[in-house]
Amino acid sequence: MSAAALSVWMPWTDRAGRLSWLKLATLLALIAPAIWMVYKFEAGLYSPKPITDLVRESGDWAIRILVLSLAVTPLRYVARLNRLIIVRRMLGLAALFYTLAHIALWCVDLRFAWMTIALELVLRLFLTVGLIGTLIMIPLALTSNDMGIRYLGAQKWNVLHSWVYVATLLSLIHYFMEVRLDASEAALMCGLFVLLMAFRAVRKSFVPGFVNLAGVAVVSGVATAALEALYYKLSTTVSIWRVISANLDFSYTIRPAWWVLLAGVMVAVLAEVRVRFGAKAARNTFAK
Ligand code: HEM
Repeated sequence: MSAAALSVWMPWTDRAGRLSWLKLATLLALIAPAIWMVYKFEAGLYSPKPITDLVRESGDWAIRILVLSLAVTPLRYVARLNRLIIVRRMLGLAALFYTLAHIALWCVDLRFAWMTIALELVLRLFLTVGLIGTLIMIPLALTSNDMGIRYLGAQKWNVLHSWVYVATLLSLIHYFMEVRLDASEAALMCGLFVLLMAFRAVRKSFVPGFVNLAGVAVVSGVATAALEALYYKLSTTVSIWRVISANLDFSYTIRPAWWVLLAGVMVAVLAEVRVRFGAKAARNTFAK
């Protein structure tokens, strides 16, 4: 294969084989957490149970990147950032990479005791849920290329790839079931997922102008607060009103609901700016 033909396959080049700064920056940002984890491990910066810490941290990155990958399509449409499409596949593959690393590290943590691993996967519901989420992600990763689209046809491919939402939902349930004391990040990921789903709904139901998008941000923020309160209600003795009122106390931390609201409002503002300053409407490829 010639060097020119090879360059098309490099993760930092576009379809024409030219260097894409967007792809290169995304690639480096996606590799950074893995390098950081290796560094912390080598430098002995983890607790006395470093592998358990690594299981957690790789899981955290897996869900963050998975949720981020879902943001590409809404951002392309509502904020007319059409170019983002070139990093969607990379984000999806990175989410699977961190998930597989997460599972592999868990196997290391259990010293590859295969019988225990198999029993845990079947008997502990949160692991079974995580396993199903992972199994759904695999065919999506395998078909997330031109060959996959050609082989399946655009319609079937879209249907198959809409399963990414099911995989994310299962991963979020897995996360919530595992959380012990602090559910802040799990609530944040859930809230961002709600926000992204709501953007999709807006796109399908009405024109995604500033008011509608800001409305979606407010509803998603409120939903995040409600979900968080419900979680604490079901898993602890903390009263639902105490959790909700913690959202109005900024002296300790800013609750996930506000971050979700902020993310939604930022997208609404970005969309408005892009419209006002004449960005061409994204192709109407708000694919599933
Ligand atoms: C076979 C599949 C999976 C297995 C065996 C597995 C295993 C585990 C285990 C054992 C923990 C608890 C770690 C601890 O607190 O000691 C955990 C937590 C977690 N997992 Fe998974 N997992 C799987 C799939 C997934 C998937 C698909 C995702 C997301 C894409 C994910 C994300 C997470 C997250 C975010 C946590 C919480 C980390 C934290 O406490 O900070 N896992 N997983």
